[in-house]
Amino acid sequence: MRALQASLLLCVLILGCRGWRRDHASNTENCGCLNDGVCISYKYFSKIHRCSCPENFIGEHCEIDISEKCYKGNGHSYRGMANQDIMGRRCLKWNSDALASKMYHANRPDAVKLGLGKHNYCRNPDNGEKPWCFVQIKRMQLKRECKVQQCSTGEKPLSSPTEKGFQCGHKSMTPRFKIVGGNTTPIENQPWFAAIYRKLRGGSFSFTCGGTLISPCWVVSAAHCFPKIMKKEDYVIYLGQSKRKSQIDLSGDNQFEIETPILHENFSSGAIAFHNDIALLKIRSKTGQCAEPSRVVQTICLPKAYEDVPYGSDCEVAGFGYENQNDYIYPEYLKMAVVKPITYRQCGQPDYYGTEVTPQMLCAAHPEWKSDACQGDSGGPLVCPVDGRMVLVGIVSWGIDCAAKNKPGVYTRVSHFLPWIEAHTGLPGPI
Ligand code: ARG
Repeated sequence: MRALQASLLLCVLILGCRGWRRDHASNTENCGCLNDGVCISYKYFSKIHRCSCPENFIGEHCEIDISEKCYKGNGHSYRGMANQDIMGRRCLKWNSDALASKMYHANRPDAVKLGLGKHNYCRNPDNGEKPWCFVQIKRMQLKRECKVQQCSTGEKPLSSPTEKGFQCGHKSMTPRFKIVGGNTTPIENQPWFAAIYRKLRGGSFSFTCGGTLISPCWVVSAAHCFPKIMKKEDYVIYLGQSKRKSQIDLSGDNQFEIETPILHENFSSGAIAFHNDIALLKIRSKTGQCAEPSRVVQTICLPKAYEDVPYGSDCEVAGFGYENQNDYIYPEYLKMAVVKPITYRQCGQPDYYGTEVTPQMLCAAHPEWKSDACQGDSGGPLVCPVDGRMVLVGIVSWGIDCAAKNKPGVYTRVSHFLPWIEAHTGLPGPI
């Protein structure tokens, strides 16, 4: 026993972190590290795990964001460190014994998801008006609103005004951690990404396409992902997942079914192109609910009708699609790439796509053809920054090969389908 302890101490003191094994595969299973934290286990005691957190994140699961000085929306996703009520009284720790009989405390099974833990920071676990905490007042523990500012509301949402705490186009992760190039990315960096799974003949489910959450009840995707012979019962949609599911756990969190699928009435496939490749899916959970905002679930903003982002903007495409043209299995973790929109004129050149491409499509590519969407990314989002928020500019539709020279990725041009989206969802148009 003693020898064991001594070797552990020696190892930690002398070898520093080298005794710890970085273990990406066990990331979600064993540690539950959030915000790009990496699960590490001691080389000789692989059962002992901890999270190694990126700069600015602390806590057992890297769940506390020390840079978060204000809260967005109603603060449901606030993970900063304010810890006083409006009268300046100190908050009680969420894990203190005095709170054991309350509805919200650190021992709830969903505590991590709600931001509750061994700390006294203000949170809004009940999705109320703003972050709060319990304070000790005489012999009672009372719920009190916190002394914390809402982030400046100077910028107006482009569309989907804050619905039930959703703040379209905002990432819950600081831009510093944005991953450039075709890389693995945590869902916090693409929290509007929806993964669509389809039932196979044997009854099991397999990943089929991407989608994007545009409002609590609506996901937009590509029409070609939904062949006419399939029924809506054959699909399952997940939000908030960084890892592709190899099996569908039918009681899963953030799992939705399609209540109403709406495929574009003029959808068709040409020689290589898809036309009007857009579908709207009304989603509902097993208990009949729409999506709830959280660190891992957010809506994307819609563009203004017929308005484009500047050509050459740094836009992001995300998905579980192939990493190379000839692959036959999808990656385990969500990936994203940075690509730039190119003009219709350039994309319609004979050495590009000629007359296959139409003004209802938008082409985007890496300037040196180094990254692109690929098979399996269809239906997923192409998002671009506009006034500090991310806007859904395209839906992955088609392309020849992947990241091939002069063969950009082709996307459904969302700004041209805005009237169609509004007509079918009744969503309020852009402000
Ligand atoms: N049609 C493909 C799919 O169903 C998407 C292809 C995108 N290709 C590209 N090179 N950008 O997943």
